[in-house]
Amino acid sequence: MKLFKISNGKLQVTTTQIPEIKPNEVLVKIKAISLNYRDILVTEGSGKWKPTENRIPGSDAAGKVVRVGNTVTKFKEGDNVTSLILPNWETGQLNANKLKESLGGSDRDGIMAEYVVLPEKALHKFPNYLSFEEAATLPVAALTAWNSVVEQSNLKLGDTILLIGTGGVSLFALQLAKLAGYRVIITSSSDKKLQKATALGAHHTINYKTTKNWTKEVLKLTNNKGVDQVIDVVGGSHISQSLQCVKSEGTISMVGVIDGTSGVIDTGTIMMKAARIQGIETGSTEMYNNMLRAFQLHEIHPVIDKTFAFDDTLEAFAYLKKAKHMGKVSITL
Ligand SMILES: NC(=O)c1ccc[n+]([C@@H]2O[C@H](COP(=O)([O-])OP(=O)(O)OC[C@H]3O[C@@H](n4cnc5c(N)ncnc54)[C@H](OP(=O)(O)O)[C@@H]3O)[C@@H](O)[C@H]2O)c1
Repeated sequence: MKLFKISNGKLQVTTTQIPEIKPNEVLVKIKAISLNYRDILVTEGSGKWKPTENRIPGSDAAGKVVRVGNTVTKFKEGDNVTSLILPNWETGQLNANKLKESLGGSDRDGIMAEYVVLPEKALHKFPNYLSFEEAATLPVAALTAWNSVVEQSNLKLGDTILLIGTGGVSLFALQLAKLAGYRVIITSSSDKKLQKATALGAHHTINYKTTKNWTKEVLKLTNNKGVDQVIDVVGGSHISQSLQCVKSEGTISMVGVIDGTSGVIDTGTIMMKAARIQGIETGSTEMYNNMLRAFQLHEIHPVIDKTFAFDDTLEAFAYLKKAKHMGKVSITL
């Protein structure tokens, strides 16, 4: 079988035997993969963090069960499944142990292969209204948006949410915020992407590149009160802009690391606004299950920008890195 491994900060294609399974494991024929910004960080490294040599990257895939170990109870041959990035976070509150063994991270291989062996708890069935390509987009971006907009949010119908950029997480957040009945303000570097965001139901759009002081624009749209919640997928120094946009007692959901993992923030303003800064880490299997129920009920279809062939995985990575996409970038096998 064919797979991609990390070698010297780059992806390299290689071949190997289809792996054997242990009693608690499942062999899955991968049908589709979806890329996340994290896959670039895992492959190339970021700052002092160096990529793991020979690691198979990738966390998000959908496929068909080919074989199950003899203690597996949740799946049978022929089931359609997605991966789960955090197999150890099945339910309850997050703790450090539940973050261990994340797929395609520093502890274990991911899913960028034609066949993958995973423990039963790293897989989940998905509703059959979704294609394999659509289902593969859910494990990270959709779950993170669900956790931010639904599980951890205290917003009410009519409240205002600010979404940053039009990448994978933000577009799922847009779809969920619409379902929840929130007023949506979304930013982007591209007017064309903002037009599409309007078509998807965003109430207000702001181009953060061409609008000199875009945070003022957010305040104008909220009668200078600020928004109830910001989903900050950029992180780093962007947090001070999020803080300018959030209302008193509002929430900043800290999701992303596009601008790095540290930034200067006005702690006095956090205090005076009584603002909440809520870190978001993808989500648990229980949350994934809740999310799939809502997706199925409302037949939500993920926004897929472009689909690449498995042989063109390097091109797919390059496309994601250039941030030309809106929503998700997929790979089909
Ligand atoms: N905490 C978690 O569990 C979790 C889960 C998933 C993702 N993440 C993180 O969240 C971030 C986003 O992930 P993603 O998969 O949605 O990424 P993505 O699909 O690559 O989208 C990134 C988008 O962010 C916007 N952007 C980039 N730089 C910006 C800036 N300086 N100011 C404003 N917007 C900017 C761009 O939107 P436009 O092209 O529209 O300008 C870009 O397309 C990444 O850092 C990722 O690692 C964290």
